[in-house]
Amino acid sequence: MTLRLADAQPWRADGHWQRMEAATAHLDGPFAACSLDALARNAADMVARAGGVPLRLATKSVRTRAVIEAVLATPGWHGVLAATLPEALWLSASIDDVLVGYPTTDRAALRALVRDDAARERITLMVDSVDHLELIDRVAPGHPELRIAIELDASWRLGPLYAGVRRSPQRTPAQLEALARAVVERPGFRLVGVMSYEAQVSGVQNAVPRGLVPPAALRLMQRLSVRELRERRGAAIAAVRQVADLELVNGGGTGSIETTAQDPAVTEIAAGSGLFGAHLFDGYRAFSVAPALAFALPVVRRPGPGWVTLLGGGWVASGPAGHDKEPVAVWPEGLRLDREEGVGEVHTPVRGAAADRLELGDRVWMRHAKAGELCERTDELHIVSGDQVVATVPTYRGEGRKLL
Ligand SMILES: Cc1ncc(COP(=O)(O)O)c(C=O)c1O
Repeated sequence: MTLRLADAQPWRADGHWQRMEAATAHLDGPFAACSLDALARNAADMVARAGGVPLRLATKSVRTRAVIEAVLATPGWHGVLAATLPEALWLSASIDDVLVGYPTTDRAALRALVRDDAARERITLMVDSVDHLELIDRVAPGHPELRIAIELDASWRLGPLYAGVRRSPQRTPAQLEALARAVVERPGFRLVGVMSYEAQVSGVQNAVPRGLVPPAALRLMQRLSVRELRERRGAAIAAVRQVADLELVNGGGTGSIETTAQDPAVTEIAAGSGLFGAHLFDGYRAFSVAPALAFALPVVRRPGPGWVTLLGGGWVASGPAGHDKEPVAVWPEGLRLDREEGVGEVHTPVRGAAADRLELGDRVWMRHAKAGELCERTDELHIVSGDQVVATVPTYRGEGRKLL
């Protein structure tokens, strides 16, 4: 069925979990549910934050086609940032602008792309070095023209300090220009875009400490990084534009929408996590997310007063292992995980005053730390609007796909 964000009701924080609970009372857990109302609120808020710069949907943070297509059907969103080439080939049947945000070494997928005229019009591959071009030429010698984007490193460095991801080796405008020339001069490749992802701004919460680093220090790093990147990215894009007509200059992510939108070199912003509103996006100064996606675990036993034990729950997020990657119990209020057991393979104990009011079969609602990864754990999302389930849609997994 087709989901439409226009069918959503206005989202209210007040009573949100009670409505999720009422809508899904007939379901047996564990299950995942997404509030259409909160999703529509988040999608509109992200568009407002972008101030007119188009948003490209980062699919890894959604992993559910019905949701991806519903968001893309609303103004302010265009195209997707896919994570892998097999995913891109699959999505390109229904989505006409698919930027693969990460280089591929997948030989079978590259050969499939080369054979598929329609997919080649719609899919843009990411490279960060001549090595990637050579790999593609080895896998598919004499291939027809492929759309290419190149990646500029957007990390922040100061002496021994490093903030950001370790991805592209291309850091200076001269390096990026040289790569652009290499793409343009090589038969079978058409340079159409540049991407640079400032993870240290987008993916680092700045209203809460990060380990021992206080939020004020994180915000200082982010201000310095935004300033440095604006200069460097601006110069790099100007240099590449001497070499090729660029269709797109992609930057940012959910946490940096407002700062990336201020960069005149950028033509579009990639974002996804803010749609489902995972809990690692609660701690930013500039914006808040509505908790659209959550999962419900049934109470299956009662180990003692003040405790209940839930079925499942060990759905932790990727990244440096730590408690912040665990799900959080959000409803009923006042329940917390046990530090000894954490979230378990089969059982997750939680404790707190609310535990004694819960009966066997009642549910405890949890939020995942990251947005899309929950969809690797469940075949379907129950879509709730108001206090009704209005649709049940398959995740990638439910369609027999996985991402990573
Ligand atoms: C290349 C790239 N762009 C953008 C993003 C931002 O995605 P999100 O908005 O889901 O944080 C990511 C996230 O990892 C990314 O790798």
